[in-house]
Amino acid sequence: MPLQRLANRISTFRQLEIIRQLARDGSIGAAAESLHLTQPTVSMQLKKLSTAIGMPLYEVVGRKLKMTEAGAALAASAEKVFDEIDHLTMHLNALQGLQAGQLKLSAVTTAEYFIPHLLGPFCQRFPNIELALEVGNRSRIVDRLKENEDDCYFFSHPPEDPGLEAIPFVPNPLVVIASRKHPLAKKRKPIPWETLANEHFLVRESGSGTRLTIKQFLEQRQLSFGPITTIASNEGIKHGVMAGLGLAVVSAHTLNEGDLVNLTELNVEGFPIEQSWYCVYLRDKELSPIAKTFIEFLLGDGQKMLGSALNYWRQHRRPKVK
Ligand code: PGA
Repeated sequence: MPLQRLANRISTFRQLEIIRQLARDGSIGAAAESLHLTQPTVSMQLKKLSTAIGMPLYEVVGRKLKMTEAGAALAASAEKVFDEIDHLTMHLNALQGLQAGQLKLSAVTTAEYFIPHLLGPFCQRFPNIELALEVGNRSRIVDRLKENEDDCYFFSHPPEDPGLEAIPFVPNPLVVIASRKHPLAKKRKPIPWETLANEHFLVRESGSGTRLTIKQFLEQRQLSFGPITTIASNEGIKHGVMAGLGLAVVSAHTLNEGDLVNLTELNVEGFPIEQSWYCVYLRDKELSPIAKTFIEFLLGDGQKMLGSALNYWRQHRRPKVK
């Protein structure tokens, strides 16, 4: 039968949907239930479809329904047609919503090490969007969230609020770092935190999520810091540690190959502090098509990209001695 005529004979997408469901579910009753149709409607549409292509689509052997070769071929093609329609829908949505739209993001300072690496590939896919990324410490980004200034926010320590959707997407391990020249740098056995009681620590400013996480971690274990120096920047802290100013607890995302020439991760009991990065948005806010597409990207390809970004740290970290 010529293709043109076949297309003309299959009168509705509904029929294709039905044959697809029949192949998936294996019975008319189950297919009817999946599609919220009655069994007679499904049987009637299958009959019409069978008449249209001039061949039976299924046979009943004993009490079992078996797709004929024609029925199975039609169902397989229907799967492809609907996949293609899904792609087309996404594409059209993208064209409608992404051509000239705006995407406004806010991220805590530590996230600036990886969020831009996601934005590159995303903007290559959707080159016409207007992107704005605001970076600040946790308390500043919490303020922006309260004011509903952006589409999505990135925290590792999202505020606890039932009005927020917070989706974890990648690990954020916090590690203790020291200069390679520090006496503890050579120690291979796990170091109890108490041993560090007299060590000088470089910590982020109050309002920082990293600082808050460490504070809660120590409080839960009834531990504390020794002397501290506040430096309001991850880069400043790393350089301070390199210069022998003290030790620090930082996110592994802040460490790159160059840093690990001068810095090392200490094998401290209870570390790394395992936490996640979260993509956060207001539950009641109607997300724009761009924001929805960005979140889909983040949880798909973006997540894979970031997983491999952390592999460098995993491969080069000090091996744990049990
Ligand atoms: P910060 O936030 O950059 O403000 O320390 C990081 C985090 O939320 O863990």
